[in-house]
Amino acid sequence: MTAGQPMIIASKSNQTNRKQELRRKVSLARERTLALLTWVPDEFFQIRVHDFYSPVGWHFGHIGMTEEAWVLEHALQKPCRDERLRFLFANIPDNPKDNRVNLPSREEVVAYLAATRQRAMEALEQTDLYDSNPLIADGYAWEFAHQHECQHQETIIEMLQLITKRSTAPQTTPFGLRESDAIDTPTEMRVVSGDVFRMGSDDPNGYDNEKTAHDVEVASFELDVAPVSAGQWLHFMREGGYRQRGLWTPDGWQWREQENVTAPEYWNPVQAGNAYAYAGPRGFRDIDPNEPVSSLSWYEAEAYARWIGKRLPAEAEWEFAAEPGEVPGSVWQWTSSPFLPYPGFRAFPYDGYSVEHMDGRHYVCRGGSWATDTCIRRRTFRNWYVPTYRQGLLGVKCAK
Ligand SMILES: [Fe+2]
Repeated sequence: MTAGQPMIIASKSNQTNRKQELRRKVSLARERTLALLTWVPDEFFQIRVHDFYSPVGWHFGHIGMTEEAWVLEHALQKPCRDERLRFLFANIPDNPKDNRVNLPSREEVVAYLAATRQRAMEALEQTDLYDSNPLIADGYAWEFAHQHECQHQETIIEMLQLITKRSTAPQTTPFGLRESDAIDTPTEMRVVSGDVFRMGSDDPNGYDNEKTAHDVEVASFELDVAPVSAGQWLHFMREGGYRQRGLWTPDGWQWREQENVTAPEYWNPVQAGNAYAYAGPRGFRDIDPNEPVSSLSWYEAEAYARWIGKRLPAEAEWEFAAEPGEVPGSVWQWTSSPFLPYPGFRAFPYDGYSVEHMDGRHYVCRGGSWATDTCIRRRTFRNWYVPTYRQGLLGVKCAK
């Protein structure tokens, strides 16, 4: 087997179960996608809420396009049915984000999702998954499209939060994390005894960047038992965390000054700036001082760690400390590690997924958030962003 390629399934008789599993997974995911669509206000369907993003409506069509493209075109060498929508929903340089605002109606997008799904499922029925083509073997193209859909669901949730942020926050109680909610006790830590462990994965359903599994030695270290909480973050703010240049890397400080960052992305000042409300995907809500702080950039996480006398964990430390099978927490956690290939890495199924971002300018976050589907919440899954990115459910556990 070539590194990065899925194995061929053991026997033809396994196919019935595998196809059934795929059908079940994709239909559950689709229910969630369509539920999310009902949360999108009409007036925001086709506008870009942030420079970083395409219009929220585009993501729904992109889910259908990706499924049809990987299953029909790439795996089975069949044409896509609608060339116009195939182009409009493609994430390619020829189709810049400003072009993606020219969307069909919500009803047409729903119809496109149904049509592309139907073709992909008909193809699943007709295809022998016992095949040497790595895109077909064991249903990889269907699996890939499924995980892709789940990832875009989380992106859609981020955009719903940006939409909330644009509306006016309620200025009266009960909203607001107040001064008195600051928590001055640091998170407890546990000792992780060093050892050699197997990092990464050879799971055929994993992404290329998780491969290949390899031995890594980790020295003993300490790790926070829980992500930093909102109350602890408020304490950092009150102690001047956003005002002390010495806590920040030069790049981080420059970014903080330029953007005038004074609180996490989704903390909106309320009550004349004396408190904060959280811009969630379905409107503003209270911030519980004990919930994990989220919507932090790498720069902010890094400055906090320095302020509290700790550091960000390396990616290998994070993975080593996570128990196999453990369900990660409710926020992604930043690590100190740039997103780089593992030994034996080979781009699959295309360069655009991982390789383009392995430029030393993206940092890895691990775990998963409450909005992350279980098909992605695995110990070896790697997510990555530039250090200024803070629109996701991104938090931090410090190390020492
Ligand atoms: Fe995508």
